[in-house]
Amino acid sequence: MKPKVLVTREVFDDVLEYLSKHFEVISNQSDQPMDAETLASKLSDKQGAMITLSERIDATLLSRCPNLKAVCNIAVGYNNIDIEACNKAGVMATNTPGVLDDTTGDFTWTLILATTRRLTEAEAYLRAGQWDGWKLKQFLGLDVHHATLGIFGLGRIGQVVAHRATGFEMKVIYHDVRRAVSEIEEACRASFVSKEELLSQADIVTIHVPYSSATHHLIGKAELKQMKSTAILINASRGGVVDDVALIETLRSGTIAGAGLDVFENEPKFNPEFLGLKNVVLAPHIASSSKATRHKMAMLAAENLVAALTTGKPPNLLNPL
Ligand code: GLV
Repeated sequence: MKPKVLVTREVFDDVLEYLSKHFEVISNQSDQPMDAETLASKLSDKQGAMITLSERIDATLLSRCPNLKAVCNIAVGYNNIDIEACNKAGVMATNTPGVLDDTTGDFTWTLILATTRRLTEAEAYLRAGQWDGWKLKQFLGLDVHHATLGIFGLGRIGQVVAHRATGFEMKVIYHDVRRAVSEIEEACRASFVSKEELLSQADIVTIHVPYSSATHHLIGKAELKQMKSTAILINASRGGVVDDVALIETLRSGTIAGAGLDVFENEPKFNPEFLGLKNVVLAPHIASSSKATRHKMAMLAAENLVAALTTGKPPNLLNPL
């Protein structure tokens, strides 16, 4: 008898076909988000699951899934999975590192350029029929070329963002919990600075750290105050790394120039106050969403699930047991 697995959200057909060769697959192709109770009841008799960042895997859920051996996230970030609870329950957890770095880095630049050049604000004006001609001072933005880019987190995605800065002839500074090796610093042309130096010197502050209790509100009221009044903040990492209430206050008072956000606290129920602000570019957590990359992510998660339940050695195991 094939092991039973749950695919919690819609995936690509060929990914399901691949999984079906190995498993009896129960899949939520209608893509209805599942609450904790539905997820627990659907998972209770399964050996494995392919999940997304919208599903929380914790001790309460695991206590109801005695047969579960593996949960495979279709995401590189895995703050939706309680790794300690997985360890206790003997459940392997995996993520999808590597395959989304370039696409997420590209989207970070989409946010940087759209925010500095006020693109969504200008487009809304045009769509509303308000454009009555060229004006010298219309939608004055900020230059990206030759500006200083400040990167929090020079991991895989942070490095991609740094590489892309070369074409804009920018100065790149970064801060991280650990300083990168000199080969990485040289390849990225990035100089290590303190958190305070980054905040006070950067024209563009962009965040590429994982979310955890250590990075919760890494950027809050005090940090936003240290930024230049002409600077912008970009977040394509995780909601919760930025204190959204503090950011809204800061954007409203014009203490910084703007923000570009792909992620929010309490997604998808983000703070509605953002909608009333013109100096913020908003996106619904799509940084990795190119057709090719989302397919690679889903296939890698499927490969992890197959390896976990057949060999016990998935390539992207987060918790060697
Ligand atoms: C997306 O947010 C991911 O972590 O892959």
